Formats: sequence, structure tokens, C-alpha cells
Amino acid sequence: MQTSSSVDYDYLRQLVFGLSQNVLDPSRDYLFETRLSKLLRNHGMTQLEELVQHLKLRKNSVLERSIAEAMTINETSFFRDGRPFELLRTDLLPKLIEARRPSRRLRFWSAACSTGQEAYSISILLLEHFPSLAGWNIRIEGTDICAEVVEKAQSGTYHRIEMNRGLPARSVVRYFDHVGEDWTVKPEIKKMCNFRQANLCANPLPFNRADDRFDVIFLRNVMLYFSQDTRKTLMAGIHKALAPDGILFLGSSEQPADPSIWTPVLAGGTCHFRPRQPS
Ligand SMILES: C[S@@+](CC[C@H](N)C(=O)[O-])C[C@H]1O[C@@H](n2cnc3c(N)ncnc32)[C@H](O)[C@@H]1O
Repeated sequence: MQTSSSVDYDYLRQLVFGLSQNVLDPSRDYLFETRLSKLLRNHGMTQLEELVQHLKLRKNSVLERSIAEAMTINETSFFRDGRPFELLRTDLLPKLIEARRPSRRLRFWSAACSTGQEAYSISILLLEHFPSLAGWNIRIEGTDICAEVVEKAQSGTYHRIEMNRGLPARSVVRYFDHVGEDWTVKPEIKKMCNFRQANLCANPLPFNRADDRFDVIFLRNVMLYFSQDTRKTLMAGIHKALAPDGILFLGSSEQPADPSIWTPVLAGGTCHFRPRQPS
């Protein structure tokens, strides 16, 4: 793909890194042209160099944030990489439910949730396989840095093509309402989920209350965009946000930056992580 030699891509990469900690490789500079074309149009500009000149002349935090958000990669699907969900169903959740019987509370966090399919997959899993949870206090939090995807997650509305990725036909009819070309999650699925915009690299993390820790955190397919230092800081925060007997899922190609505070557990053809407690 072509890039323009007159554009200060270094400036754009630094801007994105400063706001979202996403490290963009110079070999992918061409992505700025495609990802920012709508934003350019909306601001009456035609060339990337105009945008860079504009930003260099006067600070515009809103525009800078929009650029960082437009450069995020939001690829996701329902029950993505199926095995973590299968392991939760067959092994991890039955044990967790037993352990939480006294409080009747369960907390899940889909960190970097993109358009919400991960959070709704958890919700469907709970409703479909764990009827004994009726009456429990259950929260599934979804957060993402990108306002546009959070808005879509909140709407719970998906196109046929998105529905065809990962959802069994039986779940489509049972848990979604058909509206034109689109499908919307039914209220009983939606009411367990709460979505909001949050930066995982901000200090403190969006959830940091010691008395309200998560039982399960999904932090999948986002750390690959971060530097090693960012991953280390984030994983230390995630460790604090997780209950001592909680469960962490990373993407299948991701590892904790600081292995000394995590115990990897291989089960069900996947790997999850338990927080190690200081001795
Ligand atoms: C590839 S998607 C992963 C979605 C989902 N976790 C999954 O595995 O299917 C990565 C998401 O991370 C989000 N993201 C990138 N940097 C972030 C940051 N600093 N804080 C929060 N979310 C971020 C992006 O907006 C994007 O939606």
C-alpha cells in the first residue's frame, strides 16, 4: 500500500501511542490513510498532511482522541476462540458458583470488549447453562477505549454477518430479536451487561475497588498492541482487580508480562491464569 512522503507519520504514531499506548509499526503507516478518511471528511479536509499541520498548530484533544480511537483494531466475534467458554461451562463456573454460594454474587469483566460480543457471549452462557443463578447478583462489565464500539455494544444490535460468526442458530432465535437485517439481544441478556468507555492504560484502572473484585476477567487480543512496559503495568492492575481465586483469560497468543505473579493452568485445550498471592 502507498503512503505519502509528505505526511509526518512519526507524529501520528506518537499521538496514538500517547493516548492509547497502541504501538503502530511504521510498515503499517498506510493504515492512517484508510482509517482516518472519514474523520478527514468530517473535518472538511482531504489530505492527511492537512490534519497533521492542523494539530501541530493548535492542540485539539477531542480530535486527537478520535484519531487514536479510529486506529484501534476492533475485530471480535461471539464465543471467539470457543475453548475458554467451553471450559467455563464444564469446569470453572460450576466450581466458582459453589464458592460464591454464600454471597450469590458474580462479577465478570470483558476488558477491551470492542462491540460487545464477548460480554454477551458470557451472558448467553450463564442464561443457557446455569439456571440456578436466577436471583443472583450478576454483573458483566464491558469496557473499551473506542467510543464508537462501546456505543454499538450498548445497542446490542448486530448485522446478519456478525451473527453468523460464532453463534449457533439455536442461540440466535432464543436470545435475539430480529429487526430488519439486524438482530438485537433480548432484554434478559442485555440487563446483565454494562458497557462504558475506558482506557486500560489510564491510572487507575476503571475498576480498582478492593471490595468489588472480579471473578473472571477476559483481557483478550488487546495486549498485543501494547509495549512490554505497558503490559507489565496493566497486568499488575488486573492482578489487583481480580479476586484471589479469580480467573483470567488472555488471547491465545498472549502471555502475562510478569509471569511471577500468575499461575498458568492448562485445561480444556486452552490456558487460563490464576493470580498468585504474595507469601
Ligand atoms: C481486537 S479487539 C479485541 C476484542 C475482544 N476482547 C476479543 O478478543 O474479541 C481489541 C480492542 O482493544 C481496544 N483497545 C485498544 N487499546 C485500548 C486501550 N488502551 N484501552 C482499552 N481498550 C483498548 C480496541 O478499541 C479494540 O476494540
